[in-house]
Amino acid sequence: MPTVLIAGANRGIGLEFARRYAAAGWEVIGTARDPEAAGDLRAVARVERLDASDLDRVAALASAREGRPLDLLIANAGTYGPRRIETAEDGEGWLETLSIMAVAPVLLANALLPNLRAANGKAVAITSRMGSIDDNNSGGFIAYRSAKAALNAAWTSLAIDNAGLAFALLHPGWVQTRMGGAQAPLPTEESVAGMMRVIDGLKPVGRAPFLDYQGETVPW
Ligand SMILES: NC(=O)c1ccc[n+]([C@@H]2O[C@H](COP(=O)([O-])OP(=O)(O)OC[C@H]3O[C@@H](n4cnc5c(N)ncnc54)[C@H](OP(=O)(O)O)[C@@H]3O)[C@@H](O)[C@H]2O)c1
Repeated sequence: MPTVLIAGANRGIGLEFARRYAAAGWEVIGTARDPEAAGDLRAVARVERLDASDLDRVAALASAREGRPLDLLIANAGTYGPRRIETAEDGEGWLETLSIMAVAPVLLANALLPNLRAANGKAVAITSRMGSIDDNNSGGFIAYRSAKAALNAAWTSLAIDNAGLAFALLHPGWVQTRMGGAQAPLPTEESVAGMMRVIDGLKPVGRAPFLDYQGETVPW
């Protein structure tokens, strides 16, 4: 039975991944900041506590897997962070956003490399088109955009440094979740079904392709 570890799996896109991989017969390990409140996730997955801003816990979570094969890592946890960067407090919030969406995913992936190698596994980060510098025509969202751009740069290096494994950066589309909001056009089910098809087709290519949920290349 293949195994997937999904960081940030208690709601939204992460929960939909957990449900679909469980329905497809995978062993699912999902992380939540508050496992007691993650009943929907507990119904389909083994739940591990993880706050991505607690970097010690990120590495400890990986070492608890003790080299057991891992077929797929999905680094999904995300937050907008502060909308404006004007005060020192905003700056602290920006640093935390970088930690959650760039530093923690890299620590998690690095710590899980032996597990991924043992399964010829795949490491996927859920990024955003908002992390694309080419595609930024509307400004704003400095914390969120820069954290996703940092994730994109870091995941690319991981892919180059570990060329035997498949890596990818996936943009889920604008999705109906708490983050995407009510006006989002794309149902979570459609986004995640699309990303699962893309993940299925990933091969180790020594890069981390930046693809949307339909497999289209996103500009950097
Ligand atoms: N929805 C969209 O339109 C869209 C578009 C592009 C990219 N994305 C990306 O897709 C991913 C999933 O987003 P979503 O739309 O499913 O949003 P969501 O419903 O708001 O879910 C966000 C997930 O991240 C977790 N999370 C937030 N801060 C965390 C922290 N410090 N430590 C651990 N987990 C934390 C949340 O856990 P809690 O419940 O504990 O907060 C939740 O499980 C994110 O990386 C997001 O940037 C979404």
